[in-house]
Amino acid sequence: MAKVLLLAASGLARETIESIAQTGDHEVVGLLDDNAALHGSELGGIPVLGPLDIAAQRTEQLLLCVGKSVARAAVAARLGLPESRYATHVHSSVFLGASTQLGTGSIVLAGCVATANVKIGRHSVLMPHVLLTHDDSLGDFATLAAGATLAGNVRTGDRVYIGSNSTVRENLTLGDDCVLGMGSALLQDIPPGQTWAGAPAQLLYGPTSMQPGTDARHTRV
Ligand SMILES: CC(C)(COP(=O)(O)OP(=O)(O)OC[C@H]1O[C@@H](n2cnc3c(N)ncnc32)[C@H](O)[C@@H]1OP(=O)(O)O)[C@@H](O)C(=O)NCCC(=O)NCCS
Repeated sequence: MAKVLLLAASGLARETIESIAQTGDHEVVGLLDDNAALHGSELGGIPVLGPLDIAAQRTEQLLLCVGKSVARAAVAARLGLPESRYATHVHSSVFLGASTQLGTGSIVLAGCVATANVKIGRHSVLMPHVLLTHDDSLGDFATLAAGATLAGNVRTGDRVYIGSNSTVRENLTLGDDCVLGMGSALLQDIPPGQTWAGAPAQLLYGPTSMQPGTDARHTRV
């Protein structure tokens, strides 16, 4: 069983530890996090070994467990490690149709479904019970929170964040770095970098990205 380090001692890491333990596809041997106060402590019984930058000197495979899309992409860019260093984790309860393409470094938690001809980019995170239907295509570093549902032929750019229990109508396009708030019903395309929310979803902020948990500020409209 391949040994793996989780990058960021986050809530997502805590969930991934449980998911890997139940699935038995890897052995989690440690966490890395830049918060020095966590070094030497444990999360879910797994030790926090040191800062993210020591990943380059380690031999284990890696999984990025930074919960927010933009921040996760920034850590990957900062580390600059080859894709071959990264693992991929899919919980044993997940249904991926045979035609699914799943990018390296992705984490797919319990109960997710991808029906037919679905493409999921690199380092994406699908939280529990995400539903992707026919011909959906996610860019790299996508984050879909628990229960998000995409109808058929939805296309996203890179680093999108789709909030929990939100639903996207078929044939829509979501640009790079956009955010859809939790519980939303999206009925039209979202241009790059905008945050939409509500049912029906409406523009909250634009045009710069404002993802939950990041420091980027935005122009309120
Ligand atoms: C959309 C979102 C990113 C906005 O966060 P924010 O920038 O901190 O915005 P605020 O909470 O200050 O809200 C700004 C306005 O948008 C409204 N709003 C925020 N989220 C909303 C949502 N999901 N649906 C409808 N309206 C929403 C607020 O009521 C507020 O309106 P007001 O200005 O009239 O009072 C955030 O609310 C959200 O939905 N995040 C996803 C959460 C999630 O799915 N977490 C899963 C973790 S596993």
